[in-house]
Amino acid sequence: MPSIMPIFGTRPEAIKMAPIVAALHESELFDCVVTVTGQHREMLDQVNELFGIVPDHDLDILQQRQSLSAIMTRTIDGLDKLFAQKKPDAVIVQGDTTTSTAGAIAAFYHGIPVVHVEAGLRSGDLFSPFPEEANRKITSQIASLHLAPTSVSRDNLLAEGIKPEDIVVTGNTVIDALLTTVGKKIPFTDPQLENLAAGGRKILLVTTHRRENQGDAMRGVGRALARIADAEPDLVIVLPVHKNPAVREAVLPALEGKLNVLVTEPLAYGEFTRLLSHAHVVLTDSGGVQEEAPSLGKPVLVMRDNTERPEAVDAGTVTLIGTDEERIFKEVDRLLHDQDHFDSMAQAVNPYGDGRAAHRTVAAITQLLGLGLRVADFTV
Ligand code: UD1
Ligand code: UDP
Repeated sequence: MPSIMPIFGTRPEAIKMAPIVAALHESELFDCVVTVTGQHREMLDQVNELFGIVPDHDLDILQQRQSLSAIMTRTIDGLDKLFAQKKPDAVIVQGDTTTSTAGAIAAFYHGIPVVHVEAGLRSGDLFSPFPEEANRKITSQIASLHLAPTSVSRDNLLAEGIKPEDIVVTGNTVIDALLTTVGKKIPFTDPQLENLAAGGRKILLVTTHRRENQGDAMRGVGRALARIADAEPDLVIVLPVHKNPAVREAVLPALEGKLNVLVTEPLAYGEFTRLLSHAHVVLTDSGGVQEEAPSLGKPVLVMRDNTERPEAVDAGTVTLIGTDEERIFKEVDRLLHDQDHFDSMAQAVNPYGDGRAAHRTVAAITQLLGLGLRVADFTV
């Protein structure tokens, strides 16, 4: 039985890999050997616990305030030793984290085919998001199978000379994860969130973590949130704050003492998606949240100047607003007080998937290994 090794290390990779791990186990065609790098720790373990994933191998590489080079070298070193013992028939990497690209490079050096999930996203700016745009381009150079979530990402790959027969459009597995989780109404651990979900107050759900926003830009985000909190006493701002100390140091000081700002630890995925379903407006620099919120009909303001996810911008449910303090304040204010504008953005659209991306992923791997036929691409 061929052995397939999904490799992941951060929260979003785990969320997006979980449906694939489940589908690999169900297919009974493969031995699925899960390897985590531990680039994240608490935030990774939280996801694995929810989806019942017990890693076969854990490189446990996390260091506080880790450098990109440390993530890269510690991952490649750990995988080099593991591949020498285990020799998987293919590895699966997801997205554009440093775990993902290091996994692809280590596998490539061992002559192991690389399956790249969420392939072909491009912002067009090598430095934004940093280092993700470079990571994803590097992985595209060495992958054997490119699983593009949408036709836009497939076209990006074709434009870079990737052969059409090596690309399958699967949809994004984040929608599989969302659809299997959001309906479960998982109880909130924090009673304040349970009260919020039961009550009628509008929720502004905020997440921020991007490396290129850390420092001054993120301090400005904190100040903008403080101004919104003062101007809108009936609104509740919920900020499940990333574990990264650099994020906490930048965004939290301005929010101290604000009674309508609820800062929480990172929420378990089931709790986060439930909160998302109760949110009025979402303000974020996250990739995954940009994909999930439109599916639930939530207007999303993205605190970035560009995006590799243009589909929901084109559909009108996502607006790119950058990180300027005044602009953030004004865009939130407009969504809260201009009903026509809110209604135009609060449309449920599903450009990123139909919940069957993991099934298409496993079918594509089956074809790669000569065990099955190509499946039809995902279309909207
Ligand atoms: C990483 C990814 C980014 C992804 C993000 C998702 C890279 C370069 N960056 O960024 O693409 O969007 O994850 O959240 O791959 N920390 C903990 N515990 C955790 C997680 C993080 O303590 O569970 C702290 C550590 O101090 C760590 C720091 O956060 O050094 C930063 O983590 P890191 O993975 O380097 O970067 P992220 O900004 O999380
Ligand atoms: N998420 C979560 N708990 C939180 C915040 C986010 O489970 O407190 C989920 C969210 O639903 C999405 C993913 O984490 O699926 C996004 O992760 P993140 O923003 O860290 O990374 P990105 O998607 O930007 O790479």
